[in-house]
Amino acid sequence: MESIENLANKVLKKADMAVEDSLLSAMNLPFFSALRWVERQTHTRTNHAQMLVGLREGLFLKEFVVHTQSVRILEIGTFTGYSLLCLSEGVRSVLASRGIKDIRYGEDTRVDAIELNPQLDYLINGGLQKAGTAKLVKVCFGDALTVIPEKFLDRKYDLVFIDANKRQYSEYYNLVYPLVEPEGYILADNVIWYGKVNESANLSDSKSQGIAYFNKLVESDQRTEKTLLNIRDGLYIVKKLKKNFI
Ligand SMILES: C[S@@+](CC[C@H](N)C(=O)[O-])C[C@H]1O[C@@H](n2cnc3c(N)ncnc32)[C@H](O)[C@@H]1O
Repeated sequence: MESIENLANKVLKKADMAVEDSLLSAMNLPFFSALRWVERQTHTRTNHAQMLVGLREGLFLKEFVVHTQSVRILEIGTFTGYSLLCLSEGVRSVLASRGIKDIRYGEDTRVDAIELNPQLDYLINGGLQKAGTAKLVKVCFGDALTVIPEKFLDRKYDLVFIDANKRQYSEYYNLVYPLVEPEGYILADNVIWYGKVNESANLSDSKSQGIAYFNKLVESDQRTEKTLLNIRDGLYIVKKLKKNFI
């Protein structure tokens, strides 16, 4: 069976090719127009544009969804919706390859997103409308640590993307683990945390401590196969093994 490291690098190559393609030919597609719109709006209306995953990692996420044929996705930490656009475009592509054009949120195909700040609704929805994937997505505003136990415990996912409060990564991981299907994925962003979480680092701030604790938790989790991809600020790719899953 293909190792998770090979898989991640293969998808990264595809994503890099997609970045080039997008620059050359696809810039007028609704998906790319939507990404550009969200990026511009984020720069204009917030002071936190650095939080966006950006084009390279965004296209990696999209290609990863396509490659793994994931059609039930949960995102924790949506901000203005850039990564959500990429994940939902991935699902749209999977469905299109199966001849399904009438995309709809449902039991078998859905993208759920949880975001703390309800004021971002306008931007998130604006992007999804422009990309044409709004019907596939439901955004729930609230604290993921409350929303998941209250509303999501009966849901199943092929892929969960974690990109919210760095102090709470381990809690998100433990909460979503039972919701992920065997052979499904948990992806966690910013796990290099600007190099602040290496062995010798002095973990003086709570975000670095949260990420370092999370990385140890993932490393020692025998129920999974994992690889840390050196893209942007580090992306952990964790695959739940078929056997011994709980
Ligand atoms: C790094 S940003 C997400 C960026 C987004 N994934 C992208 O690349 O387009 C983190 C977001 O997580 C949200 N957040 C923080 N704690 C949260 C929580 N407990 N539940 C849900 N969202 C949370 C923040 O409001 C912020 O918008």
